[in-house]
Amino acid sequence: MSKPTEKLACILLAAGRGTRMQSNLPKVMHPVGGWPLIRHVAMSAAHLNPSHMAVVVAPHMDAVVVEAKQVFADCEAVIQDQQLGTGHAVNQTKEMLKGFAGTAIILYGDTPLIEPETLRQLLAGLESASASVAVLGCRLADPTGYGRLILNDSGMLERIVEHKDANADELTVTLCNSGVMAVKTPLLFDLLEQLEPNNANGEYYLTDVVSLARGRDLNVAMVEADANELQGANTRAQLAHLEHSFQQRKRAQIMASGVTLIAPETIFFAADTVIGQDSIVHPHVVFGSGVTIGSGVQIKSFSHIEQASIESNCIIGPYARLRPGSQLAEGVRIGNFVEIKQSSLGAGAKINHLSYVGDAVVGEHVNIGAGTITCNYDGKQKHQTTIETGAFIGSNTALVAPVTIGAGATIGAGSTITKDVPSSALAVSRAEQKTKQNWKK
Ligand code: UD1
Ligand code: MG
Repeated sequence: MSKPTEKLACILLAAGRGTRMQSNLPKVMHPVGGWPLIRHVAMSAAHLNPSHMAVVVAPHMDAVVVEAKQVFADCEAVIQDQQLGTGHAVNQTKEMLKGFAGTAIILYGDTPLIEPETLRQLLAGLESASASVAVLGCRLADPTGYGRLILNDSGMLERIVEHKDANADELTVTLCNSGVMAVKTPLLFDLLEQLEPNNANGEYYLTDVVSLARGRDLNVAMVEADANELQGANTRAQLAHLEHSFQQRKRAQIMASGVTLIAPETIFFAADTVIGQDSIVHPHVVFGSGVTIGSGVQIKSFSHIEQASIESNCIIGPYARLRPGSQLAEGVRIGNFVEIKQSSLGAGAKINHLSYVGDAVVGEHVNIGAGTITCNYDGKQKHQTTIETGAFIGSNTALVAPVTIGAGATIGAGSTITKDVPSSALAVSRAEQKTKQNWKK
């Protein structure tokens, strides 16, 4: 990253109770694209490389702080003891930003889809209008619950009125407040001192800094951006809507980068999914977080993949489950009803049918027959299975870990293997077949 942008502070608001989510989890920890909302917001802010970043949290929201710091190590946690409103929340950063002269961008933790480019446009809007405050607005088909942006005759933003405080005329306005705002600082804290909780909620509203700035005859800019990017989540239904918008955006990005999605609307990605060129994803595939896929890979229908890396030219599924720690080298084949967990598979290894491979190191060109199980758990501990290069595991084999199958060894079908098998050996452990002639008589 380039050196920090001088004179830019980002303030992420995350202390709200999130009552409307009906949840024990802080609202900003609910996931979209497999990431907590706050991580998305912190990522967008971090792209601007601010000199200061703060996350405002309620007491006992350590998890939120950890998320923000993972994205931006210098992010400072600021505690808001009582949730008295968004203006009050921003005011808690006063001490931290003492002596700071520049611009502060305020972002709401429940508005995760904002793009860094849009934040840059907000800053440009602030500068070009010689404004002291700039607000990101958007037009929403259903503005219910949002603050409305009230412009004067010359198009300048005069004030923001919250849904609950709006009159019938104001409720017809569809131009909404996204919550994202840029304010010259220290002016910001000067305006915040003037806030009064004269509203339906009895809270200190950040949005009132607009009318306060206009009252001082300062310019206020309004920058309009795409509604899909600026929607927030106060309820589970809105969270589902955010997920929908996120998925549409991610699918478009992945296709634009040269990946075929046969039925994009049925494929679900995480924020950090990476897929190489000329890979093909068939309908109904779900990616959890932490998945990296090389080029020319085929993922067939109904597969579920999380925290896994898949090198080029692998063929996965249909109906495959790759769990955390699955590492597949080039050209591996994983077929239907195969589950892999915490295992590395060498180039060209094949596990094509009905198997469980967990805590295993599988060498190159190993062939694992249908119905093979690594028995990795003895009820107390997990143990490792090692299958060296080119070994052949017959169908319906139980490999009782810890156990090592040497390079090029063969295991007869139906075996339960409890002892190491040397390289190139054949091991069979099953009762010999007895055949009685003329039994039917
Ligand atoms: C807010 C805006 C509204 C805007 C909407 C956009 C205000 C008064 N209203 O309403 O104009 O259209 O967002 O999504 O700002 N928070 C704190 N401390 C508090 C209260 C809230 O940190 O005391 C945080 C919350 O965690 C949340 C954010 O501030 O991340 C916004 O609060 P929320 O209650 O969701 O405000 P909205 O009702 O959505
Ligand atoms: Mg909100």
